Amino acid sequence: MTGGEPEYEYGDDLVGSLAIIWGEGFLSPGGPEEVARLLEGTDLTGATVLDIGCGVGGVDLVLARDYHAGKVVGIDIEPPLVEKARALAEKYGLSDRIELRAVEPGPLPFADASFDAVFSKDSLIHIADKDALFAEVFRVCRAGGLFVASDWLRNSDDPPSPEMARYIESEGLSFGMASPERYRRALERAGFVGIELVNRNPWYREVARRELAALEGELGDRLARAVSPEMRDKNVAIWRNMQVVLDSGEHCPTHIKAKRP
Ligand SMILES: C[S@@+](CC[C@H](N)C(=O)[O-])C[C@H]1O[C@@H](n2cnc3c(N)ncnc32)[C@H](O)[C@@H]1O
Repeated sequence: MTGGEPEYEYGDDLVGSLAIIWGEGFLSPGGPEEVARLLEGTDLTGATVLDIGCGVGGVDLVLARDYHAGKVVGIDIEPPLVEKARALAEKYGLSDRIELRAVEPGPLPFADASFDAVFSKDSLIHIADKDALFAEVFRVCRAGGLFVASDWLRNSDDPPSPEMARYIESEGLSFGMASPERYRRALERAGFVGIELVNRNPWYREVARRELAALEGELGDRLARAVSPEMRDKNVAIWRNMQVVLDSGEHCPTHIKAKRP
């Protein structure tokens, strides 16, 4: 890096690798099918939806195209990702209903009660202060509005096990993981009701096992050719470390739902 250039966590190599592993537009597992499982029973037709941590925009396409959200506002702290998300929305002819904005970390740059629903897929892990986060989510959600998210939690707030520390170090991303209890408390303090948390570890534990096998085989070869052999090796190492903490139950991807009364 030369002086003055911003340093981003989700560089092109990582984004390119994750597109091969998880599909176009996704920086998280499960694709549109996992978004569908998360949104089962939720009607977003015509709704104005905030997507926190939109990444490269795959989720926003699903919200606008398959869930008929009236307007999706995707925000992210990494401007190059927002540009990619914008290009994806344009490619699929959905720019009129998907607005993408680069933001600073911290308070959400929206007026009170701006959204019918606040959504997030596997991004809140990067925001360590859960109380401040959910106070902001509550503020921008209208009365009667919904919070629906998937995120990567830990099964306790004790110091991470050595295996978890090794996994987090291999990711090289800033993780602010917390327990389901801490999420629930922060949501309650913010004023949310009807809080539901569903541990998705049993699902992702098996999906990740198949992803690791694919990375060790043909998919890994494709990644090595399309991105680099180093990124293939790095991802194999991450997945091996991740499988250990998925199998132990310490890493728990979780679905979270709540309502603003
Ligand atoms: C694992 S990716 C998930 C992206 C997308 N939701 C998906 O499922 O493909 C996490 C995203 O959160 C973004 N992020 C990290 N901290 C953030 C913050 N404070 N506000 C908004 N986005 C943030 C990252 O830049 C990254 O794009």
